[in-house]
Amino acid sequence: MNITPFPILQSSRLVLRPIEPNDAKALFDYFSKDEVTEFYDLPTFTTIGEATALIENWQERYSKGENIRWAITLKDTPGELMGTCGFHNFAKEHRRAEIGYELNPKYWRQGIMFEALTILLAFGFNELDLHRIEAFIDPENIASRYLLEKSGLNSEGVLHGYFYEKGRFVDAEIYALLRYHYEAGKGQ
Ligand SMILES: CC(C)(COP(=O)(O)OP(=O)(O)OC[C@H]1O[C@@H](n2cnc3c(N)ncnc32)[C@H](O)[C@@H]1OP(=O)(O)O)[C@@H](O)C(=O)NCCC(=O)NCCS
Repeated sequence: MNITPFPILQSSRLVLRPIEPNDAKALFDYFSKDEVTEFYDLPTFTTIGEATALIENWQERYSKGENIRWAITLKDTPGELMGTCGFHNFAKEHRRAEIGYELNPKYWRQGIMFEALTILLAFGFNELDLHRIEAFIDPENIASRYLLEKSGLNSEGVLHGYFYEKGRFVDAEIYALLRYHYEAGKGQ
């Protein structure tokens, strides 16, 4: 799905903007921490080159219409990337996409990712006209589970041995939010 020009999104505290090559240091700062990669399909980074490569990979996939990933920043400090979030695995004919996200531990438990996902869900349903937004999590990823449930997504079950990550097969729990549930929830 080609989403051009790259949309800049805002909420009361946040600005979601494109990720730039000079965000590599901020990305490395947290992707070099095991607590961030514990449930992530990436190894803990040991060089800043891995952060640069990840940015290039996101940018290349965006240019092919395969994903869109935003830098999460505070309105007062838009240059400082705190984390990222976005859509990938678009299934255009089914009007479906997957979300992914991570945040620097410095900013955990301040409602930042909840605020970012609120923006993302509104954009996905209202602007991309999606019918279904889904997320795959490690069933042990409690923070991600509560975040998704608070954001209105529901668990649809566990897919056993679904991903091969870091040399082993791991389970994945699938969460989803349907457009009509999203619209019904907005009225509450
Ligand atoms: C998952 C993650 C993005 C959550 O970000 P966050 O900004 O700390 O989440 P929020 O502060 O918006 O929290 C949303 C809800 O989830 C709950 N929550 C968040 N982290 C939690 C934790 N460690 N334990 C229990 N509940 C948690 C919060 O309590 C909150 O609900 P509440 O405000 O009603 O209490 C963050 O922990 C992270 O980056 N983890 C590592 C990367 C990762 O696992 N990404 C997802 C891969 S699927």
